[in-house]
Amino acid sequence: EKVILAYSGGLDTTVIIPWLKENYDYDVVCVCIDVGQGNELDGLEERARLSGAVKLYIEDVIDEFCDDYVVPCVQANAVYENKYLLGTSMARPVIAKRLVEIARAEGATAICHGATGKGNDQVRFELGIKALAPDLKIIAPWRIWDISSREEEIDYCHAHGIDLPFSMNNSYSRDRNLWHISHEGLELEDPAAAPDYDHLLVLGVSPEKAPDEGEIVTMTFEKGIPVSVNGKEMKVADIITTLNELGGKHGIGIIDIVENRVVGMKSRGVYETPGGTILLEAHQQLEELILDRSTITLKKEMGNKFADVVYEGKWFTPLREAIQAFIESTQQYVTGEVKFKLYKGNIIKQGTTSPYSLYNESIASFTTGDLYDHRDAEGFINLFGLSLKVRAMKMAEVEKN
Ligand code: ARG
Ligand code: SIN
Repeated sequence: EKVILAYSGGLDTTVIIPWLKENYDYDVVCVCIDVGQGNELDGLEERARLSGAVKLYIEDVIDEFCDDYVVPCVQANAVYENKYLLGTSMARPVIAKRLVEIARAEGATAICHGATGKGNDQVRFELGIKALAPDLKIIAPWRIWDISSREEEIDYCHAHGIDLPFSMNNSYSRDRNLWHISHEGLELEDPAAAPDYDHLLVLGVSPEKAPDEGEIVTMTFEKGIPVSVNGKEMKVADIITTLNELGGKHGIGIIDIVENRVVGMKSRGVYETPGGTILLEAHQQLEELILDRSTITLKKEMGNKFADVVYEGKWFTPLREAIQAFIESTQQYVTGEVKFKLYKGNIIKQGTTSPYSLYNESIASFTTGDLYDHRDAEGFINLFGLSLKVRAMKMAEVEKN
């Protein structure tokens, strides 16, 4: 029998290979899914085989990730607990989907992942797998074995004849893809401690270290989908890559949050999402011009709900599909150009235009206009304030008695 192992090439997933063989007698098929984590994929094949795997797949799903998972989150302006741009959360379902596809192609009966029993990722992988392939067995070694440190993992590998170079040093627990990198652990585990940005940052610099000179960027969107940066049309993955470089250089998109995990604990993390932060801000600048007030209000609520659904790993659900359909229908006229300046962690508006802008200068301006008659406001306010005036009169009467 075969098991599909979600494989990164690192120690935490490599040690699972001999463990699966020893405890289940499975043939282990490793699957490394490239969502833009940018790590060295050369040598991975040899590493997997030396560790006892029968096969290694390397699957590039970057475009699928961007088009089908990132774009809906951008359109929803999905942000978890006001800060987290969901980088890890939105990648887990596309990984689960591809694991299931390969399990089917290989005739495997189980899928194994290396997420711990304390986190969100186990929930996301497993809800994804359950939704797409309810018959597959799921194995989560970190909830089963009693290996509990890097040293013990290395010992286990050595005891099973795997002599690969693994560094002993304990770093942050990180997860990277094209959209972001997350950092947890070390000094961050104490919420009273300041983050060590010199040590920690990977995608860019802190605002203090950013250039003194700002940089102007223009972007265009069509129906809520980003299509160009600085006049150059690009696919979404390339837009994110370009914005990551620009944003990283100018200290954009570093957040530090104590978030509420699905399993009930609070957890401190620092996230770098330079390109994503720019994309969401640019998209919102455009929506400000185009969407009417009540649509914006409901869209904001739906966007928050969407963020929760994505965070909780409920991607493959009718609720996610329904919210996404609502969001998509609001994007029909979200087309136009946004210009902004990147400066020491800030994104400063430089002007927004759209053929569908609802902004009407002759109404809004202080000096001009015949569409708007100041005198209409009096009647409007009388009716708009009627209920609170009635209540105030009643309260005055009650207090007298
Ligand atoms: N706390 C974040 C989330 O739940 C990041 C998780 C990072 N995952 C990891 N395996 N390092 O989405
Ligand atoms: C893990 O525990 O595997 C990483 C953190 C998380 O999933 O939240």
